[in-house]
Amino acid sequence: MNIDFHCHLLPGVDDGCKTLEESLQIVGEMKNRGVEKLVLTPHLYSPKVPTDINRIKDTFEKTREHFNEMGVDVELGAEIFLLEKLSSKPLLPLGDSKYLLIELPDFEPAYLFEELLELQKKDFYIVLAHVERYVYLFKDDFSKRSFFGNKFVQTKLLKLKDMGVFFQVNWNSLIRKEKRAQYLLKNGFLDFISSDKHSLKDGRDIIDFRSKFIESLKVDEPVFGGA
Ligand SMILES: [Fe+2]
Repeated sequence: MNIDFHCHLLPGVDDGCKTLEESLQIVGEMKNRGVEKLVLTPHLYSPKVPTDINRIKDTFEKTREHFNEMGVDVELGAEIFLLEKLSSKPLLPLGDSKYLLIELPDFEPAYLFEELLELQKKDFYIVLAHVERYVYLFKDDFSKRSFFGNKFVQTKLLKLKDMGVFFQVNWNSLIRKEKRAQYLLKNGFLDFISSDKHSLKDGRDIIDFRSKFIESLKVDEPVFGGA
């Protein structure tokens, strides 16, 4: 199934679409490019985009029928900012799964690995949103890189992988061949692709599930989601 599980199309709750009409127009374009299921993931606990978890849930209940009428299955999730002690807060997993879409701060937090482990102890699986964005996961390791076979491996990314953390990369970063996205792709670190689409005019391309590029990737299908 063609799933985009990171997008900000739940209208009027975060910095994504402002109206239902805008959301549905984007959904229509996504459908034309082959999407079958969406998980709507407004920001949660982001210091840059204040949101309210109850409003998010209410808005989803009020609008899900409109999304379904477009012929696309929808679930609610969230892009959850990794705060210290996040594991003690109310969380919104992707659909009815135990997968959390986690956004990291712009600078490496001291609690990064510790807090991810706390979430895992609560039986959640971690999907890191747009991993290519976090320079610090790549930066340090260019000076500490080690040699395995024919490729350089970056230890922080490997540490996360060893923990069982999944990596999501944005479609745009891949098709524009951004350096860190290319690194993740070429070294087998990429697990999932999503659009992170925010609005009609955000400049982000919609995933073309029928493209040869997607066919060539052999990305694992997400195992979360409802019926
Ligand atoms: Fe996002």
